Amino acid sequence: MNNLIEIKNLNKSYPLHNSGKIKIIENLSFIVKQKSNVSIIGPSGSGKSTLLNIIGLLDSDYTGSYFLKDLEVKRLEKSKLNSLRGVSIGFVHQFFHLIPELTVLENVMLPGLINKKSYQDSYKDSLELLKIFELEERLNFKPVKLSGGEQQRVAISRSLVNNPDLLLADEMTGNLDENTAEEIFNFFLKYINKNKTSLIYVTHNKKFSKMAEEQYYLKDKSLFKINE
Ligand SMILES: Nc1ncnc2c1ncn2[C@@H]1O[C@H](COP(=O)(O)OP(=O)(O)OP(=O)(O)O)[C@@H](O)[C@H]1O
Ligand SMILES: [Mg+2]
Repeated sequence: MNNLIEIKNLNKSYPLHNSGKIKIIENLSFIVKQKSNVSIIGPSGSGKSTLLNIIGLLDSDYTGSYFLKDLEVKRLEKSKLNSLRGVSIGFVHQFFHLIPELTVLENVMLPGLINKKSYQDSYKDSLELLKIFELEERLNFKPVKLSGGEQQRVAISRSLVNNPDLLLADEMTGNLDENTAEEIFNFFLKYINKNKTSLIYVTHNKKFSKMAEEQYYLKDKSLFKINE
């Protein structure tokens, strides 16, 4: 396999209320090598989440070409797309999106079970991650009883449970106070680097952006490399 991601001449528009379209991304090209660590910073509304949703296979309404692990995404069948989305890609959001009715352990086990992992393996992998992210005392808690930082660590564990090739994080610490954000971010980067998982993260925070090996700026509808 060559690069993890190869995007060429990506264009993305959203329909306007009455008629016409608004262009958000124009002629954007982006290559991400295997096992790399990439940050994207840029003004609010510049299209960071839009781009991440395309990369994460959540949005296929674009023009241009996108190859993920040498597979052209547009040519893939729905079942292959679903399995790539469920197993090869992990997603962490600003709002943790945990399922309130499920316990911490059940929330983390779910992506494994959905993707046909056995109950035992799902349990074992979830427990291991929850220990690493220091949540073993909280296994049977419902999300409502956790602090914001703990909820985010559950969401991070859930995103990693299928051992994805690529982790996408959209402003993952944006909803936490600065100290908690920094603590979680450092902890998370250490895990990602140790496991050689590829990471693309969007942040508003310059300090966090600089912690990536490769830094990009999204402006004027395209991506620019910051640290050549
Ligand atoms: N589903 C949609 N329909 C129409 N317009 C949309 C849609 N989603 C996003 N947009 C518009 O596209 C632009 C880019 O949005 P996007 O969420 O990608 O920005 P962002 O860079 O992630 O911003 P932020 O830093 O505030 O999260 C915005 O102007 C937004 O209003
Ligand atoms: Mg956004």
